[in-house]
Amino acid sequence: MKIAVIQGPNLNMLGVREQHIYGHMTLDQVHEQLKSQADQNGLELEFFQSNLEGEIVDKIQECLGTADAILINPAAYTHTSIAIRDALAAVAIPTVEVHISNLYKREEFRQNSITAASATGIIAGFGPFGYHLGLISLTQILNEMQAMQQAQAEEQAQAPQTAPAV
Ligand code: DQA
Repeated sequence: MKIAVIQGPNLNMLGVREQHIYGHMTLDQVHEQLKSQADQNGLELEFFQSNLEGEIVDKIQECLGTADAILINPAAYTHTSIAIRDALAAVAIPTVEVHISNLYKREEFRQNSITAASATGIIAGFGPFGYHLGLISLTQILNEMQAMQQAQAEEQAQAPQTAPAV
């Protein structure tokens, strides 16, 4: 199973930007740890970061048919981007929105997520560990979906065949 990890603007500055809020880990370090978690669970990850809204929209659209789920931190676009919200709704694959900081402890303008309405769930306030929680959540969601599809397929295979109408 493949999960696209999409990082929004300024997250390439992790480890440098506002360390008292976002911590000391760089984005590469966060991704390295996520990759080892994914390897242990037989998951494939694709990493993408952009400071541009349109590029993030393009990446989300690309996920349709190429990824099973999305782990996204839309960063500042969380609070402004109807385009990212619409793109997530359009591809309609399991999505977890992650925020390193607890948005609800911060400025009022950060307390509203426009994009979250298109996510399956959100995780905020656990530092970079939130990405791991997001991956665990997506693994669980994908496993449940697979089990449901399998049960449906078995049910169909066992259903009595109706005789053709004469
Ligand atoms: C953030 C929170 C956003 O408000 C902010 O603009 C970010 C990072 C977080 O991970 O806590 O860039 O998404």
